Amino acid sequence: MKLLNVQLGDRSYPIYIGQNLLSDSQLMSQHVTGTQVMVVTNTVVAPLYLEQVLQSLESAGKNVDVVTLPDGESYKNLETLNIIFDQLLSKKHGRDTSIIALGGGVIGDMAGFAASCYQRGVEFIQIPTTVLSQVDSSVGGKTAVNHPLGKNMIGAFYQPQAVVIDIDCLATLPQREFAAGMAEVIKYGIIWDNEFYQWLIKHRTEIQSLSSEHLIQMIERCCAIKADVVAQDEKEHGVRALLNLGHTFGHAIESEQGYGKWLHGEAVAAGTVIAAKTALTMNRITPSEFDSIKDIFSRYSLPIVKPADMSTEQFMEHMAIDKKVLAGKLRFILPQGIGHADVVSGIDNSTLSDAIENH
Ligand SMILES: NC(=O)c1ccc[n+]([C@@H]2O[C@H](COP(=O)([O-])OP(=O)(O)OC[C@H]3O[C@@H](n4cnc5c(N)ncnc54)[C@H](O)[C@@H]3O)[C@@H](O)[C@H]2O)c1
Ligand SMILES: [Zn+2]
Repeated sequence: MKLLNVQLGDRSYPIYIGQNLLSDSQLMSQHVTGTQVMVVTNTVVAPLYLEQVLQSLESAGKNVDVVTLPDGESYKNLETLNIIFDQLLSKKHGRDTSIIALGGGVIGDMAGFAASCYQRGVEFIQIPTTVLSQVDSSVGGKTAVNHPLGKNMIGAFYQPQAVVIDIDCLATLPQREFAAGMAEVIKYGIIWDNEFYQWLIKHRTEIQSLSSEHLIQMIERCCAIKADVVAQDEKEHGVRALLNLGHTFGHAIESEQGYGKWLHGEAVAAGTVIAAKTALTMNRITPSEFDSIKDIFSRYSLPIVKPADMSTEQFMEHMAIDKKVLAGKLRFILPQGIGHADVVSGIDNSTLSDAIENH
């Protein structure tokens, strides 16, 4: 088992990465200080992994309740959040209860937000079960639900007590979800670590065939980068923004297509190619680096072109809404070579529209 630490002073916490961790009663109960636990999961994950988690907690003497939510991004809202509060209150969970998120990023974001507000904040543990949640959303303390007028608009920064990453969970993940999560993995290579990027190219076959050794190494590297970024800039005033590479274009694709049609990671992959084309025009990357970025996404089964029916005007409209929501601060993350990126504003419209149309 690998152990990393997110360094945030008295809110620092461990990330465990390994195999067969859900059945490790000692590990699973170690960060639960009280005796009450509420496991938050969904109808897809519960039949797969809930039993192991319950056994581990109960054999350590914990009193465990479970709330099983409907599956999907479309349920990541205040109404579903209220189901969690209803259960916590009706089962009489006190201030010393612990909430455990068992599922992908949707469950992690909702359970985390519930933990941040229930009785003004209770302990919270993340057990992420998708690639995306294991490498990205479970680390760093961003929690939120969606509002009809915007994604992740209602939320809080709230760090967990611990993150337990069991790579065995990835065996049941649909291939398309696996690929989507890889978009965020590749992102870390582009913005932060050229050596890791080259490693992802070299070991693609092992990663795609779920070699445990490679998955552990890969997730460890991503979590280490995220932990490093979050330790430097917890509330995204600076370097944390780099994690949004490809996301401004990606969000435009997601909201134009309607959430669910394109998975987040798929939109981020195409969005990153558009950002890379912008960087190419601005001489921040070479033509061969641009080709390499397209190549790695497509080898990992991700889209590298925008939806055929989506016009530049539609991108611009969505980005203008983003800009309004962000109080006029629409900025793009652009690679500088591979392994480094910067926040760039003031890019001219012709460069942007060329990147959107010809990438
Ligand atoms: N908080 C953050 O910093 C942060 C960062 C990135 C993304 N996010 C959020 O994460 C969410 C996306 O997360 P996601 O990609 O994990 O999506 P998800 O949680 O919807 O999971 C994808 C699908 O896989 C299923 N699933 C989960 N684990 C499984 C397993 N082991 N085997 C089989 N099926 C499994 C889920 O039930 C779901 O149907 C978005 O809401 C996004 O906003 C948050
Ligand atoms: Zn993302």
